[in-house]
Amino acid sequence: MNDTASPAGYPHRHLLGIEGLHPPEIAYLLDLADAYVEQNRQIDKKRAVLRGRTQVNLFFEASTRTSTSFELAGKRLGADVINMAVARSSVQKGETLLDTAMTLNAMHPDVLVVRHGDSGAVQLLSQKVGCAVINAGDGAHEHPTQALLDALTIRRRRGHLDGQVVAICGDILHSRVARSNIILLNTMGAEVRVIGPPTLVPAAVEALGVTVHHDMRKGLNGVDIVMMLRLQIERMQGSYVPSLREYFQLYGLDQSKLELAKPDALIMHPGPMNRGVEIDSLVADDINRSVIREQVEMGVAVRMACLDALGRHLPNLNGAAS
Ligand code: CP
Repeated sequence: MNDTASPAGYPHRHLLGIEGLHPPEIAYLLDLADAYVEQNRQIDKKRAVLRGRTQVNLFFEASTRTSTSFELAGKRLGADVINMAVARSSVQKGETLLDTAMTLNAMHPDVLVVRHGDSGAVQLLSQKVGCAVINAGDGAHEHPTQALLDALTIRRRRGHLDGQVVAICGDILHSRVARSNIILLNTMGAEVRVIGPPTLVPAAVEALGVTVHHDMRKGLNGVDIVMMLRLQIERMQGSYVPSLREYFQLYGLDQSKLELAKPDALIMHPGPMNRGVEIDSLVADDINRSVIREQVEMGVAVRMACLDALGRHLPNLNGAAS
């Protein structure tokens, strides 16, 4: 894999967010992931890159794509992978996040993959443990591997990220996916528009280098990529939209709104999708333009790349630094 990745490398011990990463570091992870896409399409998908290493997946929030792909990624790289079932753990008896983390740390894992409902929780945890930590999504803060897999999907389809006009649409306020994508896409030279109702777009989002549209038809005009977001009802206290029916009429992606984007615009969604709320089924399942399933495939490769990159900073198996 070394031969195919850019030489800059990934110099960090953890992956806590996209914020602070430099373009060559992002390109390095994407190059590495590109090679893993090809490996994952072979019959023999296994490598020994993490043989002898222990990876613990600790998800305090529900997940299908991220948790499954991290498990698959670790196993394909030869790690021993433990999925801690939070619902059946001592968290249910009141054990705190940090006590849980310290308990797991005492078992000498090499990598902890953590999803938590509070922004900043994963970074806090990374300061208390002795192993590498990957943020699998923290509150409305960051979801770095999602942004990387989205970038890989776009780059493989379009050949590059710079100059791409990307519309991120819907519930921007509660979305860690939006935040990580905005930072990554801007860092790599894309142009980002955010589209949503005023109640679901954070007040200071322009400071992240995006333009804001509240009229979806205007915002979609001429874009290369339409990235839809789930309406995160579970994070809302009170009402942010008048009704789901009205939300779909104004902000749901259907064929008529999609026609305003470029004719070959790609349709993306991180999942899980609420069909008929933020996206119409005909658009989501459009075999020519929807890359939603491809995003899932890229997720495994990106997570292998991230585990591999962090694994290169672990002490080697005879005790010396690698
Ligand atoms: N996109 C994403 O994070 O999906 P899951 O919640 O299923 O992991």
